[in-house]
Formats: sequence, C-alpha cells, structure tokens
Amino acid sequence: MDAFRGHPHPSEEKSVTTIGYIIGSLSSTSINRALVEAIAKLAPEGVELVEIPIAGLPFYSQDREADFPQVAKDFKQAIVDVDGVLIATPEYSRSIPGVLKNAFDWSTRPYGDMSFSGKPVAIIGASGGPISTAAAQQHLRAIMGHFNAIVMGQPEGMIQYAPGLITDERDIANDGTKEFLAGYLQAFVGLIERVRKANA
Ligand SMILES: Cc1cc2nc3c(=O)[nH]c(=O)nc-3n(C[C@H](O)[C@H](O)[C@H](O)COP(=O)(O)O)c2cc1C
Repeated sequence: MDAFRGHPHPSEEKSVTTIGYIIGSLSSTSINRALVEAIAKLAPEGVELVEIPIAGLPFYSQDREADFPQVAKDFKQAIVDVDGVLIATPEYSRSIPGVLKNAFDWSTRPYGDMSFSGKPVAIIGASGGPISTAAAQQHLRAIMGHFNAIVMGQPEGMIQYAPGLITDERDIANDGTKEFLAGYLQAFVGLIERVRKANA
C-alpha cells in the first residue's frame, strides 16, 4: 500500500462544486470567519461553500489513535468529500494558530492516511497588520506541501483588515477588495476544475 495514498476525487460526475472551508480561529468575532462568509456570498451559481469545523477536535495525542475519536474521523471524511478546501488562517505569533495545526495533525493520522493528499487547497487570511497573514501563510504552504495537497499559487489571499471592510451582512465595503475576492474564488474553482479533468 502507498503509505501516503490519496483519495479518489469526489465529484467527477457532479454538477455542483463543493468547497469546504476551515476557519483557523475559534473567536466569536473572527475577522477570518467574516471574510469567508463574505466570499461565500460571491460564489457563482453551481459553487457551494460548506464549513469543515475544527472546534470540536480534541488535542491530538498518539494515545488517542487506538480509539480514534469519531469527531476526528468526521473531520477527515469531510475533507475527502469536498472538491477543494479553502483555509482561512489568522496569524498568531508569525505562524498559524495552534487550533489549526492540531486539526491538520489529525488529518494525517492514522499513519499513511493523509486526508489532504491530492486535494485542491486555497489559502487566505485576514489581519490588521501591514503584512497581513503572509508569515502564517508561508508556514501553511509548507505544511500543505508535505501533505501532497495541490495548493493554489496565485492569487495570494493576504487581506489587510480594517474595521468596516466587511459589513454585518457580510458584504465587502471596498469595491477593489470585492473584485479581488471574486477573482480569487474564480481562480480556485478553475484549479478545482483542472484537477477534476486530470483525474477523470
Ligand atoms: C496570540 C495572538 C498572536 C497574534 N499574532 C499576530 C501576528 O503574528 N501577526 C498579525 O498580523 N497579527 C497577529 N495577531 C492579531 C490577529 O491578526 C488578530 O487578533 C485577528 O483578529 C485574528 O483573527 P480572527 O479575528 O479571525 O481570530 C495575534 C493575535 C493573537 C491573539
């Protein structure tokens, strides 16, 4: 058996493209969650975004593998079931938050069962800082490379957040940012379609 096998692509016959999204923040006021909810409102017909939640995952420990938690099995299956995964990461201490790394560690276990292998992945992040989430995103690209994910190279989604950029209704107040995000989503759907054709 290939120790790092991928999973069959889920939707060679489907007319709907399903993008799972992971929010790397547990904050009830997360700007990264607001960002993805705003992106979801820009989705073209035939593209749906569904959350792959991480808040219920326990801390990973090898001790838990013999009795692999159902919530971790569900998390892994959710990644396999979607056509692509959009990851919105905050930047914590110049890297990704621990909750996100914890989720990714679960995704690689049991040994050899890498849920992200062969999966199209897009990375985005919002921060108020001048380099936005650039440092965190570089770390995340390294992790996803190790997972054999197919990561979108361009456009890069580094969103410098300012209060009011995203309204309570999850509309983007800035036209340039709105246009960028619509193009970003379109580019990711294009990558998913290319991967789907290659796997057909
Ligand atoms: C522990 C911690 C570390 C942080 N480190 C960074 C950082 O390295 N770079 C940065 O741009 N912002 C940093 N921030 C600020 C976050 O960008 C900000 O809290 C942002 O709102 C987090 O995203 P969220 O609202 O989606 O949770 C940090 C915040 C916390 C709580």
